[in-house]
Amino acid sequence: MSERYLLDRWYQAAFSEEVGDTPLARTLLDIPVVLYRAGDAIAALEDRCPHRFAPLSMGSVRDGAVVCGYHGLAFGADGACKHNPHGKITAAMRVRAFPVVERHTVVWIWMGEALKADAALIPDLGFIDRTPETARIRFHIPTSANYRLVTDNLMDLSHADYLHPTSLGGVMTGAEVTTSLKGETVVTQWINRDCLAPARFHARVPPPQRADAWTEAVWQAPAVMVISTSLVPTGTQRRDEDEVRALHSMTPETASTTHYFVCGTRGDRLEDVEYSERLRGMLANAFIHEDKPMLEAQQARLGNASFEGSRPVLLAIDAGAVQVRRQLDRRIAAEQDAALALA
Ligand code: FES
Ligand SMILES: [Fe+2]
Repeated sequence: MSERYLLDRWYQAAFSEEVGDTPLARTLLDIPVVLYRAGDAIAALEDRCPHRFAPLSMGSVRDGAVVCGYHGLAFGADGACKHNPHGKITAAMRVRAFPVVERHTVVWIWMGEALKADAALIPDLGFIDRTPETARIRFHIPTSANYRLVTDNLMDLSHADYLHPTSLGGVMTGAEVTTSLKGETVVTQWINRDCLAPARFHARVPPPQRADAWTEAVWQAPAVMVISTSLVPTGTQRRDEDEVRALHSMTPETASTTHYFVCGTRGDRLEDVEYSERLRGMLANAFIHEDKPMLEAQQARLGNASFEGSRPVLLAIDAGAVQVRRQLDRRIAAEQDAALALA
């Protein structure tokens, strides 16, 4: 199965905490990449030595360069060879270097044309910076499913009522749902008044007390989403500290596998580490033991067939997901048309 990706956009390569001074191997958009810290910056190089094609990630990092573990060629963050223990350095001794920016505790990588890399296109995730580390909950979930299936899963949160009944579900079916295009984003909102809070929010509105719930999923290309939820006792005002926001970021590894990253934040009990751990357990169960197996089983059923070619039945709940697929297709086609025009 081959996949055409949107190239001139930032993808999440990793969380900051994952990248250190030992090489991290990660395949992104079918390309093997090695990441490591080089001084204050993060280097991202093609993970294939130009000599005998050994993965550079099997080597080590020394003085800001990655040293091939096979015969010792060393490559700097710009991809150029810095040291050849066997003779002269030639121009052919280089690997592709990818632009990288570290922002909002995320390592962003640009897999397209390096000259077009524009840090202003990185999504604004200031809510992560404003949340103390004690209230951030991160996951990197390697998932054997196409990244668009993972996006579908989040643009249609009605699945929570069926797949996550003991944690996140219970307020989506029957909610007032709207989907709209706002600038470069697709936004789906669910509003449910006078409902029973899902277990995730029992600390805020314990049953049988009634609750009003707002959920908003905002997508931007290629596959970065922010999901915000606010749940308050019925009839009361929403407060800032009621907002629960999470980054969900889907980076294709291959056509049928995805690096699914999540960073959850909250506005209350910010220093409560024990509460964070309880939430982490609940969310891990939902994302890793409920979403992931379902997504992987969907992909297995699809096999190598294309999603559209398999003629999925369309339901009213698919409005957001369909809009996202359309937007993505449009941008990929535009990028490819522009490339052909230049060729
Ligand atoms: S394969 Fe890397 S130096 Fe030989
Ligand atoms: Fe889910």
